[in-house]
Amino acid sequence: MDYQVVIPAAGSGKRMNAGKNKQFILLKGKPVIVHTLTVFEQDPACSGIILVINEKEKGDFLKLIELYHFKKVKQLVAGGAERQESVYNGLKACDSDIVLVHDGARPFIRQSHIRDLVLSAQEADAATIAVPVKDTIKKAENLQVVETIERSSLWLVQTPQAFRLSLILSAHEHAVKHQFAGTDDASLVEFMKHRVKIVYGDYTNIKLTTPDDLLFAKAIMESERGKSDD
Ligand code: CTP
Ligand code: MG
Repeated sequence: MDYQVVIPAAGSGKRMNAGKNKQFILLKGKPVIVHTLTVFEQDPACSGIILVINEKEKGDFLKLIELYHFKKVKQLVAGGAERQESVYNGLKACDSDIVLVHDGARPFIRQSHIRDLVLSAQEADAATIAVPVKDTIKKAENLQVVETIERSSLWLVQTPQAFRLSLILSAHEHAVKHQFAGTDDASLVEFMKHRVKIVYGDYTNIKLTTPDDLLFAKAIMESERGKSDD
């Protein structure tokens, strides 16, 4: 089934400390956002990309779209102060039944996982890619352990996340109305007491957040698996 994808890329990448939006950092000679856009450009099920950007960087993004001949980027939408607002702005430009939200800063997403996710969203209306937590997680206060949290039920949630458009739009409206700030879009759906399905992803689908992530990114790209699909 066809879907459209909203790609938030309007952040400033403070934690990366690269002196520029991390979307423009080069991996194997190409900007991060180009790697991300390529995955969706090449997916036959993707019918359109809504790229959410900072207006000040519009010229830079337009240059890349032209240079790499991206045909599916149907709209550049201005982002907001927070990721949640950026995504909401992007969703308002969508008109497909199923929409995906995927961080511009996650260039290693694989098409096979996108397929699984879309199928799941068709059945459950809301789904997210995630991987089981591998480490032991402890809760602490003032460097004093308070609790060890049972790991078997914990998941590291990533993007893409997929939704029926009507559901995610109401979830964003509901969040605005109740001043609820979520760290991802699925949490806004949860806040409406709607279930979100988990779809197994991959540990290599990292978000480039801090400088050490660039080391992992290099390793992922060098291990053929990084960009190849099943
Ligand atoms: N994002 C966005 N609009 C914002 C903030 C973030 O579109 N106001 C996007 C980022 O560009 C990124 C994704 O949301 O692709 C995930 O956010 P994050 O990793 O936090 O990126 P930044 O906000 O850019 O980084 P930082 O928080 O370190 O400043
Ligand atoms: Mg951020």
